[in-house]
Order: sequence, then C-alpha cells, then structure tokens
Amino acid sequence: MARRKKVYEGKAKILYEGPEPGTLVQYFKDDATAFNAQKKDIIDGKGVLNNRLSEFFMVGLGNIGVPTHFIKRLNMREQLIRACEIVPLEIIVRNVAAGTLSTRLGIEEGTPLPRPIIEFCYKDDKLGDPLVAEEHIIAFGWANQQDLDDIVALALRVNDFMSGCMMAVGIKLVDFKIEVGRIWDNDMHSLILADEISPDSCRLWDIETGKKLDKDVFRRDLGSLTDAYTEVARRLGVLPTNSGPVTRPTLIN
Ligand code: CDP
Repeated sequence: MARRKKVYEGKAKILYEGPEPGTLVQYFKDDATAFNAQKKDIIDGKGVLNNRLSEFFMVGLGNIGVPTHFIKRLNMREQLIRACEIVPLEIIVRNVAAGTLSTRLGIEEGTPLPRPIIEFCYKDDKLGDPLVAEEHIIAFGWANQQDLDDIVALALRVNDFMSGCMMAVGIKLVDFKIEVGRIWDNDMHSLILADEISPDSCRLWDIETGKKLDKDVFRRDLGSLTDAYTEVARRLGVLPTNSGPVTRPTLIN
C-alpha cells in the first residue's frame, strides 16, 4: 500500500500530499538529467545535498523577507512546502555569459554582463522550455504585467542574496533559474519562490580557479557531481568541513 499520495513526479523531485491542506512534501531524488532528459544518470547523494542546500538558501531568503514555499526540512531527502499554483515560467537570472546565452548570441562564456539579465522560458518539456518574450507571457495569460513586475523584483533580490552568499565563499554566481508560484487569498494572489535553489539550477564557478561546481560537471562530464556539490555545501557551512564523503549517516538530520 502506498505510504501517501504522489501528486507529481518530475525529473529530480517528487511531490507528495502533505500532512495538512495547503502543504506538500517535496522529495529530492538522486536522478540527474540534462539536455531535456536526453542525458540521464543516478548520482548517489545528490538529492540529499540539494535538499540541504535548497533549505539553506530558502531559509536565508525567508530571513530577509523574500516569501518562499519552504516550511521545514523533514528528513535528509524531504522538505515540507506550501502548495502553490506554479507559474509556467522558468525565470533565468544571468550575471556572466554562459550556456544558451553564449551559444544564442555568440558571447564568449565567462564574459561579465553589464547588468543582471533576466530571461523567461515557457515551462514545457515537450517544447524544450523555449525562451519567450513578455508579450507572449501576457498574451497567452501565463502571467499578467503585475506578476511580471513582481517576478523581476523577486528575481533580483534572490540574485543579490545568492551572489553575496557565494562571493563570501569564493564562488561566482554565473546564472541560475527560479520558479515562482501563486498563493490565493479569495480572488487576490501573491507570488512566492517555489521549486528549489541548488547547484542543479545554478552555474557556480570557483572565483580563483574557474572550476565548475554545478550541474555542468554532469552535463559536460567534468568529474564527480557529488564532490562538486559537497564542496559547495562545505564552503557554505551546510556540511561540517571535516565530515567524510556524503553518506546517509552523515546527513541523517
Ligand atoms: O543550462 P543550459 O545551458 O541548458 O541553459 P541556460 O539557459 O544557459 O541556463 C541558465 C541557468 O538556468 C543555468 O544555471 C541552468 O542550470 C539553469 N536552468 C535550469 O535550472 N533548468 C532549466 N530547465 C534551464 C536552465
């Protein structure tokens, strides 16, 4: 018999019904996918690390007043979150040229951008999450102009906070993706930060060496993804610096 009802299963996470109405349990899997799931693998310990790292960032953002879906971590792979209506957009914030920005516009990877650039992609795996303009978003009703203004303000606050956290531990925040959701109060809604913030959805480069500490390690076969994420977690103080490799007992709480 199933322990609880699965609400949704994505590439890296599963959502289960939560203990109270309006809550969900978010479970972090070890599955890694890239290039719209054309490259797949199981990376032992990745889900444990992302659960901890996402908790770290969401709690920090909550402390500076950014509304998030995070309620509390339940165990090494699960966190309790507020249910929300996900806006079907991937919101990408870039500080340095990389990835599709570099290939699309021919800007060399590593070129600092004159200001943070925010891009919107329509969340649809079948279409490969295409880049869309604000015009499309509003015309097709995925979000309204007020939502977009709020999303830009929220994304820039997340960028400032995350850039500072990373800079303090010698890591450059090159770019990242966030998702937001709506919380309804009668016919009014507000937006909260949802999904996850982890090295799966960021580009993180060591400031000194340029070493990649994010999912590009997996995408581009650059070594051990668990080692890279463990290093990020250790530098941020999320894992004790003297703990051994990421194993289940190390992260039991
Ligand atoms: O990562 P990729 O080169 O496919 O696309 P990008 O547009 O350069 O991605 C910008 C940032 O958003 C990177 O940090 C990606 O890891 C993240 N992203 C993500 O987390 N999920 C996606 N579906 C697309 C991008």
